[in-house]
Amino acid sequence: MKITLPTRVQIVEVGPRDGLQNEKQPISTAVKLELIHQLADAGVSYIEAGSFVNPKWIPQMAGSEEVFQQVSRCDGVTYAALTPNMQGYQRALASGVSEVAVFAAASEAFSQKNINCSVAESIERFAPIMAAAVKDNIQVRGYVSCVVGCPYEGDVAPEKVADVARQLYEMGCYEVSMGDTIGVGTPASVSAMLEATLEHIPVSKLAVHLHDTYGQALANIYASLQMGISTVDSSVAGLGGCPYAKGASGNVATEDVVYLLNGLGIEHGIDLDKLIAVGNYISLQLGRESGSKVALAGRE
Ligand code: HMG
Ligand code: MG
Repeated sequence: MKITLPTRVQIVEVGPRDGLQNEKQPISTAVKLELIHQLADAGVSYIEAGSFVNPKWIPQMAGSEEVFQQVSRCDGVTYAALTPNMQGYQRALASGVSEVAVFAAASEAFSQKNINCSVAESIERFAPIMAAAVKDNIQVRGYVSCVVGCPYEGDVAPEKVADVARQLYEMGCYEVSMGDTIGVGTPASVSAMLEATLEHIPVSKLAVHLHDTYGQALANIYASLQMGISTVDSSVAGLGGCPYAKGASGNVATEDVVYLLNGLGIEHGIDLDKLIAVGNYISLQLGRESGSKVALAGRE
């Protein structure tokens, strides 16, 4: 059987944000900066470097201003941040972000827990961000969380997910990243969700953001590639999550995605050896083993 895959995949590295946001131990701005600098040096061209949310909710991201103000920017690298509302957008803009991301959920319960408002209210909050971003010439990426399952509501219907993605796309997000927040998807459920979403959004405008809680992320990425998806979010060393919190594992490890892409002959622009060294650096700083199978396999 002949399978058509994309010839190039854009990796969106979310470790410095999605990964580190879950860390309870203090992480200095110097370590965050070193991580971001090393990622860029390894050839990562899109780095989600922080978020401008309420620091009382996510203390680890409180230093995002410092990170963006101090980062040494490389040509051709996008340094992005999450912004949940206008207050976050203004903080992000003042800190010199390259672009921002808004995030909605496909489940009401998760929306309330994560951003303290309904799905419809969250979309309303994004409208002024979209308008300001056009004026400021800032691109806005969109996320949908809980695209397969929700920790509070269980299974989420593909049509519901597709509808939230459509709203983000129609309001001006240049790309919508589909987040399996708790990593429960399988190729069957992820494909069904993508199929429903593709009825509203072109494949070139969709990304996948797959947490690896149940070990399905690489299989789900492969299924997504087969459907023509060519943007994949991942987290170096599989950063993120807490071993004691059910359903809160990290994203798929960037090293493992790059290894998969290498095997498939798909371009991505990242130096795997350098990337493994970055993952080992941050794992050492955090005092734990890397979440990347590829990094562990290459250990001496
Ligand atoms: P709220 O409490 O409803 O906000 O929070 P509010 O507007 O009522 O304001 C309350 C207080 O928050 C005020 O301060 C505001 O100034 C402050 P006070 O008067 O009490 O001192 N505030 C802010 N401070 C700094 N920056 C801001 C900001 N906004 C309000 N931007 C809010 C609403 C969304 C802000 C809050 O719920 C929040 O920060 N949530 C954080 C959610 C988050 O970061 N979650 C993790 C990221 S999402 C994710 O990981 C999923 C993803 O990876 C995809 C996937 O995996 O599915 C993207
Ligand atoms: Mg995530």
